Formats: sequence, C-alpha cells, structure tokens
Amino acid sequence: MAATKKEPVVIEGAGPFNAPIGGLLTWVDQRFPLMSQWKDHMSEYYAPKNFNFWYYFGSLAMVVLVLQIVTGIFLVMHYKPSAADAFASVEYIMRDVPGGWLIRYLHSTGASAFFIVIYLHMFRGLMYGSYRAPRELIWIFGMMIYLALMAEAFFGYLLPWGQMSFWGAQVIINLFDALPIIGPDLSTWIRGDFVVSDATLNRFFAFHVIAIPLAILGLVAAHILALHEVGSNNPDGIEIKQNKNAQGIPVDGIAFFPYYVVKDALGVVVFAIVFCAILFFAPEMGGYFLEYNNFIPADSLKTPPHIAPVWYFTPYYSILRAVNENFMWVLRAGVVGYAMLILFTARGCLPKLLAAMVAPVILIAMGVIEAKVWGVVLMGVASMIFFLMPWLDKSPVKSIRYKGKLSRWAMTIFVVIFLTLGYYGTQSVTDMGTLISQVGTLIYFAFFLLMPWYTQMEQTLPVPDRLTT
Ligand code: HEM
Repeated sequence: MAATKKEPVVIEGAGPFNAPIGGLLTWVDQRFPLMSQWKDHMSEYYAPKNFNFWYYFGSLAMVVLVLQIVTGIFLVMHYKPSAADAFASVEYIMRDVPGGWLIRYLHSTGASAFFIVIYLHMFRGLMYGSYRAPRELIWIFGMMIYLALMAEAFFGYLLPWGQMSFWGAQVIINLFDALPIIGPDLSTWIRGDFVVSDATLNRFFAFHVIAIPLAILGLVAAHILALHEVGSNNPDGIEIKQNKNAQGIPVDGIAFFPYYVVKDALGVVVFAIVFCAILFFAPEMGGYFLEYNNFIPADSLKTPPHIAPVWYFTPYYSILRAVNENFMWVLRAGVVGYAMLILFTARGCLPKLLAAMVAPVILIAMGVIEAKVWGVVLMGVASMIFFLMPWLDKSPVKSIRYKGKLSRWAMTIFVVIFLTLGYYGTQSVTDMGTLISQVGTLIYFAFFLLMPWYTQMEQTLPVPDRLTT
C-alpha cells in the first residue's frame, strides 16, 4: 500500500518559525502545547502601546534572576560551606580559580543590581496603580518575591564568613531574643547554636542555594501567569481590554513579540553597559555593594565598631533603630490619633468601628512589651505594609497622572523619606540621625495609613478613553 504524503501543518501564530523548523515544530506541538503557549504569552499577548522607561524593569528583573542563578551555580562549585573554610574558599575563588573573580563580582554586583531593579519596578507599580483591581494578585505575588529576595540576600550575606557576615547575622538573629516568652528559644533554634556558628552557616547555605531560589522561581511563574491572565496596566491606568476591534484585539495593544521583545532587548543592552561599568571599575561601590569589614575573617571575639546591613535593608534598619523609650510616647499618641480618625469617619461602619477597638489592646501591649521589640515589629510591618496597597488606595483613578495634588505630594515625600531612611541606616548612630529617622518613620507610616483618606478627598483629573502616547 502506497504511503499517503502528509500535508505540512501550518501553525497559526508561529510566523517565521513555520518554514525552517516546521516539521519538528509540528511534531513537538502535537505532543506539547508549545505554539499555544507561545501565542498566549508572546505573539498574541497584546500589551498597551504606551509602555515607557519604567516598563523595562520587569524584564530586567528576570535577566538578573537568571544571572544570579547561573553565577551562583559556578560559585557553589568552589565555595566551602563550613566556618573553618568559607572565608578562605571565597579568597581562593577570587585569586586562584580561573575567572573566579569575575563570577564572584557578577554575583555580588548582581545582588545590589537586583534590588535597584526591583525597587524601580515596585515604584512603577506604585505610580501607575498597578496593584489595583484586577491586578491585586500580581502585586501580592510580587510582594512575596520581594520578601523572599530579602531573605535570599540575608542568608547569602553570611556565606563569605567575613566580619560583617558574622555580626550582621548576629545582630538580626538576636532581635528575636527580645520577643516575649519564645524569644531566646526561637533565636537559638534559628542559629542551631547559642552563637552564630558552623551550624548556622550550613543552614543558611541550604536556604540560599536551594530553598529560597526554588520559591522565587515558583513565585515569578505565578507573577507572570497572573499578569497574563488580566493583562498589563500602563502609565495611563486605562484597561485596554475594554476597547477591542472586530477580531477581539485591543485597539490600544501591540503584540509582545516582536515589539516589546525588541524594546526590552534595548533595555538589557543599556543595563549591561552600566552593570559592566560598575563590575569592572567599582565592584565594591565605595563599600555599599561589598562592605570593607567583610574583607576581614569573622571573629566572634571582635565586634566591629559600626555594624550596618547592606544598603537595600537600611531604610528598615533605620526604622528599627528609631524606636526607643521616648519615641514610644510618640507612637502611643499616633495610635490614639489614628483610632480617633477611624472612629470619627466610620459613619456606623462595623468593621471600621471594630478596627478602632484594637487601639486599646495595642496601647496595653505597648505598656508591657519593651521598646526594642516594637522596633522589630515596626521594621517588619514597614516591609510588609505594601501588601495592603490594593485596599488602601481608594482613588477613583489608577495612575498618578490623573490623581490629585495630595497623592502626588504624598508619593514625592514618601520617596524622599525612603531614601533618607536608607541613608541614615548606613551611618553610625547620632542624636540628629535618630531624630531624623524618627520623623521619617512617622511619615513613612502616614503615607500608607492616611492613604484611604487623602486619595478620596482630592480632586482627580479626567481619565481619557484611549491611551495617550
Ligand atoms: C524576581 C522578581 C520579579 C520579576 C522577575 C518580575 C517580573 C515582572 C515582569 C516581566 C512583568 C511584566 C513587565 C513589566 O510590567 O515590567 C512584571 C509586572 C509587574 N510586577 Fe513584577 N517582577 C518581580 C518582582 C516584583 C515585585 C517585588 C513587585 C511588587 C511588589 C512586582 C509587581 C509587579 C506589578 C504590579 C506588575 C504589573 C505592572 C503593570 O502591568 O503595570 N514585581 N513583573
């Protein structure tokens, strides 16, 4: 029986790939949803036409994530996770392993670059209201990534086993000591010993190289899936899906592939130039990316005169240091004032009235638990309060372009305060620094906690029906 010749299957959306690798593509596509995925997420994913500079940082975050994983794999080939060998193994990588210095600097510069990119990516979301419905889950997954990233950086920083590695971990883990009842046992459990030791280094290594990276990869997948389910926001904060043509394509959208792939590629090139300039000419970045004290091996008997975390943690570190016994009185006044504000504006709303009732409980707790613990609590709340953004922002418009003066001022002041807190967190404690950190802490929380009021009070601008390009 003569074999019937099979017609080549033309796969819709495969574009230029159909011709050269059509046969293989057909074979794969009959067994795996390759082309439908390609279409859903690339060639037929329609993104708003007006993406600007701020939209580079999502793809850059992916590039840096890959860079960290690849360089991390090569570092692990030579690094030794033991208190006796860790410091020397990093020196060995820097001096003796061929190209080791490059891999190590790529990884250490990559860590700071990751946080720069992520902070700019988050700032874009804040500006354009990308956390608002229907994108709450994109934001929540993003926040989970941010927390995981901080954990990843914290665990990784112990690995070189330098003075700052050791004392930084010591200071942060000791914070748990202050928690009532469970505190001391909890911190011993985290360390696996009574002091930061070989056991601590081993478990931090396990978290840094496998547990947290796995979690981050899973969360990034969820982040992108959620984004592609609802579609991207844009600088105007307009839903492009509400305006489609006869083929069901948003009239203000363009296909992600090839248009935004090309645009993002430009971003990667510019980023790579800046990144390489730092990598090759200033990898320590004046002690901000690699702290000078970390070139000294860890010594449990010699506390460095000035212990400060790496720059990306310092806004929160400032908040931690701002809380002392005197500042507790200001915080008490803040709790009372906020409860009054909720009560006077509740207009019989039961959940709000109940929320105001929490204030006396907090005040009693403030009388019982020492200031140091409240510093830890405020530091934790400060890093997680972003989770609430979708519900704090009550503005009728999404983007800062159409919000009123109050929101614009609040956003500007918040950025200045975040940077100021960050700066003072890198400095030794002074009276002036503490005072500025205390004022900064109040403004930081006011930005979030007063948002439901100022976003409703202000006059917003009319939002156009179509994108402005
Ligand atoms: C490893 C870390 C991360 C990666 C790889 C990543 C990746 C991306 C990518 C590729 C996009 C689409 C392109 C773009 O809009 O720029 C995006 C969008 C978004 N990301 Fe992330 N992201 C990360 C972390 C975060 C964090 C920490 C947040 C906030 C807490 C966040 C919030 C958002 C939001 C709200 C959007 C939608 C923006 C819009 O449509 O306007 N992401 N992300």
